Amino acid sequence: MKRGTVLYLYELAWILPSIAIPVGMLAALLVTAFGAGIHVPSTAGRIDPAKISETAPFDQLGVVKTGPLHYEVRLVSQIWSFSPNEIRVPVGATVTFVGTSRDVIHGLFIPAANVNVMLIPGQISRVVARFDREGEFFIACHEYCGIAHHTMGGKVIVEPRS
Ligand code: CUA
Repeated sequence: MKRGTVLYLYELAWILPSIAIPVGMLAALLVTAFGAGIHVPSTAGRIDPAKISETAPFDQLGVVKTGPLHYEVRLVSQIWSFSPNEIRVPVGATVTFVGTSRDVIHGLFIPAANVNVMLIPGQISRVVARFDREGEFFIACHEYCGIAHHTMGGKVIVEPRS
């Protein structure tokens, strides 16, 4: 082979992967975002942590029906509990979790529903999940928040449709 051809092939061997890798990553991003429904948690607003109890929607904690099979869960975290810590929705429900923290950073982790957000004092987190299976699903705090962090949990009870 001529020297020019060798150089050309050598260059191609570097250029092709350097195009293929970002294209592959973009494809993986699109598949997870639109196919698997994975989304980056975003800030849904700010709140004064000292005034949570009198600020809507956290002045009324719990499950609120917002439409046919649509619910909003207004949830506040504090060391070392969630309020509410038991959430009941019918099977097939689409649930918007709106949460914040009174004190330190906590986490809202519901592995069964692909919910994984931080609950940050001063910030409102919002995440949407669907519950297609009946049963009891574990809620955990997955941000270390102090000595009793491991006890901080709750559950979602998905009931048969009445
Ligand atoms: Cu709250 Cu860990």
